[in-house]
Amino acid sequence: MTRYNAAMRRRDLLVSGLAGAVLLGCQRGLTKAATPREIVRVVPAQRSRDGAGVKLRRSLGNAALSVLDPFLLLDEIHSSDPADYTAGFPQHPHRGFETVSYVLRGGFDHRDSVGNHGLIADGGAQWMTAGRGIVHQEMPVQTTGSELWGLQLWVNLPAAQKWVPPRYQDLGAAAIPEIAMADARARVVAGRVGATRGPVDGIATRPTLLDVTLEPGAQFHHELPGGDTAFVYVLTGEIAIGTRQVTDGELAATGPGTSLVVTSAQGGRFLTIAATPINEPVARRGPFVMTTEAELDQAFADYRAGRLAI
Ligand code: CO
Repeated sequence: MTRYNAAMRRRDLLVSGLAGAVLLGCQRGLTKAATPREIVRVVPAQRSRDGAGVKLRRSLGNAALSVLDPFLLLDEIHSSDPADYTAGFPQHPHRGFETVSYVLRGGFDHRDSVGNHGLIADGGAQWMTAGRGIVHQEMPVQTTGSELWGLQLWVNLPAAQKWVPPRYQDLGAAAIPEIAMADARARVVAGRVGATRGPVDGIATRPTLLDVTLEPGAQFHHELPGGDTAFVYVLTGEIAIGTRQVTDGELAATGPGTSLVVTSAQGGRFLTIAATPINEPVARRGPFVMTTEAELDQAFADYRAGRLAI
C-alpha cells in the first residue's frame, strides 16, 4: 500500500510538470502536445432582415466580418412572433457554394426547381450543395408552437467544384447522433467527436458542425486539425475559451491550434463550426458566390434567362 502511494505521488509530481506531460505524451506515442486554440476575435451578431423581410441576427457575412474562409455567412432566426418570420424566403437562386440549414424549433418547408421537396424541422438539418445552380424557396412553418429557431450557414466550394450538380443531404433529427459526456452533450451534424461521426459526407472542405450544450461548470474538449478555420457561435448562456468570455449572439473566431477547450461557469449552448480553408479569391453578390466578377455576371444572366437550374 505504501509503495503504491509512493508510486502514485511520484506519478502526480511528474504529471504536474511540463516534463511529466512530455513523458506521458511519449508514452502514448504522441509526437507533440495538443495546442489549445485562443480567441482572436469576438463579433456580436447584428440585427438584419433578409428574404421577404425575415428578422434575423447575422454574425458572419456583413461589414463587421465578411468571411472566415471557407464560411461566408451565419444567420440566426429566433422568434415566437410569426410576423417576424412568416414572409420567409420565397423563390431565389444559388450558385457556387453550399447552404446549411439547422433548425432547433419549428420548421422550414423547402422546394426547388428540380422537384425536390421536404421539411427541415425540430432538430433536423439540410446540407445543400448548390453547385452549378438551384432555384428554391424556404418557407417557415409552425410545428409544435409559434417559436421558430433556426440557423443558416453558407460554406464556399473550391473553384473546381462550383459546377457540380446540386446535391441534398436531408437529415431528420433522428439522423443526427447525440453524445452524452460528463455535464455536456453534443449533437454531431458533421465531423467527428471521438468515435461518433456526423451523417454529412462528401463535402470538399471536410466540415465540422456540432451543437454543444454545457451544464454549469462543464468543459468541452475537441480535437481538430491545426490548420482548420474554427469558430463558435453562442446560442444561449455564456461560455469561455481560455480567459475570454463569449455570450449569447456572439461569434468567436479562433487562431490556429489542435484543440478547442470550451468551459462554462453558468451553462451555455453553442455551435462549433470548422473546416479546411479554400484559399481562393471570393467574388460574391446576392445569392451567388463565385471566383471572379465575370462568373457573377454570368450567374445573373443565366438566372434571368432561365438557364441557372437545369
Ligand atoms: Co436559399
